[in-house]
Amino acid sequence: MSKLVINNENKKSTIAPEIYGHFSEHLGRCIYEGLYVGENSDIPNVNGMRTDVVEALKEMKIPVLRWPGGCFADEYHWMDGIGPKESRKKMINTHWGGVVEDNSFGTHEFFELCRQLGCKTYVNANMGSGTVREMSEWVEYMTFNGVSPMADLRKANGHEEPWTVDYLGVGNENWGCGGNMRPQFYADEYRRYQTYVRNYDGNKPIAKIACGANVDDYHWTKVVLDTCFDGTPEKEHGFMDGLSLHHYTLPEMDGDWNYKGSATDFTEEIFYKTLKRSYYMEELITKHGAIMDQYDPEKKIGMMVDEWGIWTDVEPGTNPGFLYQQNTMRDALVAGMNLNIFNKHSDRVKLACIAQMVNVLQSVVLTEGEKMIKTPTYYVFKMYRHHQGATLLGSDLLNSSKVGSGENEVPKIFESVSEDENGVINITLTNNSLKDAENIEIQLTKDGDAYSVCEASYVTGAMNAHNTFENPEVIKEQEFTDYSKAANGINVTIPACSVVSIRIKK
Ligand code: AHR
Repeated sequence: MSKLVINNENKKSTIAPEIYGHFSEHLGRCIYEGLYVGENSDIPNVNGMRTDVVEALKEMKIPVLRWPGGCFADEYHWMDGIGPKESRKKMINTHWGGVVEDNSFGTHEFFELCRQLGCKTYVNANMGSGTVREMSEWVEYMTFNGVSPMADLRKANGHEEPWTVDYLGVGNENWGCGGNMRPQFYADEYRRYQTYVRNYDGNKPIAKIACGANVDDYHWTKVVLDTCFDGTPEKEHGFMDGLSLHHYTLPEMDGDWNYKGSATDFTEEIFYKTLKRSYYMEELITKHGAIMDQYDPEKKIGMMVDEWGIWTDVEPGTNPGFLYQQNTMRDALVAGMNLNIFNKHSDRVKLACIAQMVNVLQSVVLTEGEKMIKTPTYYVFKMYRHHQGATLLGSDLLNSSKVGSGENEVPKIFESVSEDENGVINITLTNNSLKDAENIEIQLTKDGDAYSVCEASYVTGAMNAHNTFENPEVIKEQEFTDYSKAANGINVTIPACSVVSIRIKK
């Protein structure tokens, strides 16, 4: 039996709700069909946003949505996506499948989607192929409330009031698809571009996010911080509020680090390899975080993991440029494990966006025409939503073993614990073993006897179990009952290959 000691007197950082954020790119069927079907579609919609998807996402509680890319962002010219739809420019989406992008989903539609979802907005601006003027005019168009060419244009296009841009990314992956820049060049350009991200709403400055490293490129982090972070009191955070980090989980086979493999048809060896590759997130956050600490010991700026998730081969027969993949219990474990890691690093990680929201990579929802299904990852986000805005508590897992073998070994259990404003303690756990359940004695350092379970649920299944349009509820959230009261806490048994949420209160 392992033991989870919750130190409920050790209240740590606030878990930023934005850690549970999402990413939607003009890629495959994410925006078009997945989120937006247009006002004239037979699929039920409100102002073009499909109702089934929006309702499902709302249940999950979406804190923030990033748009329009991704690689697409550095080729996106926002003026193509405003004004009457029939006269919007049609273009080729060169990054993703070479399909026609008709720009019917643009700035107004993005803010309408966020309004319906009730979430914050994260707009990723074009630095790779756009100009400073184009970016600064977009900011003016979106956020200025006075008389100006761009504010007037917005009003002429039917939106009198400005919108709130909570986060603005200045470029995306500028070390790669966003311009193949070297770090010093990017950092200098970033300083220039961010100067023109004006704060038109004095009360609500836009949080500026600089492009961070590709996985373990620590040199990039150092150069960007060296050039752009200035923590003097006059300048607050200097030129930035956040630095992004991208890390996708690819299983890796026989030394091939680009091996992806099937989303549903994989061996136990690949299952554990996947978890191991995903667990690398812990090391990346620690090491990039240590560099950030050198510049910003007070942790004023956030590490924004604005792209993460499993990247597998596309579903057979689908457009390789659309990145459409299925989602299994393996995805659920990857989601649960990473979210626990982010919670535990919530002193530094202030935002994270799983890639991507619908029909692309590790999605929470899949659609096929008018049908929609929720994936195992969906249920994990839903179960973990109680962590949003809660306070991380100190927790230690004792006597727990490892699973997988050799270089694929990972901890059997991942956990994180938080306390919400009503004093409810949220405990989330993953059991990464494919074979063995785990008995855990959960002990609190204070008032343990007074706590009992108020809500508990879980998802479990075979490692490659997944929902399909024919069989949409193979994996779904179920009530969890395998617990009993014990001195100073509770004892639980969590099944193999499961993600569990237990909420306790006095
Ligand atoms: O999410 C798919 C792509 O992955 C994004 O467009 C890009 O930023 C990353 O390489």
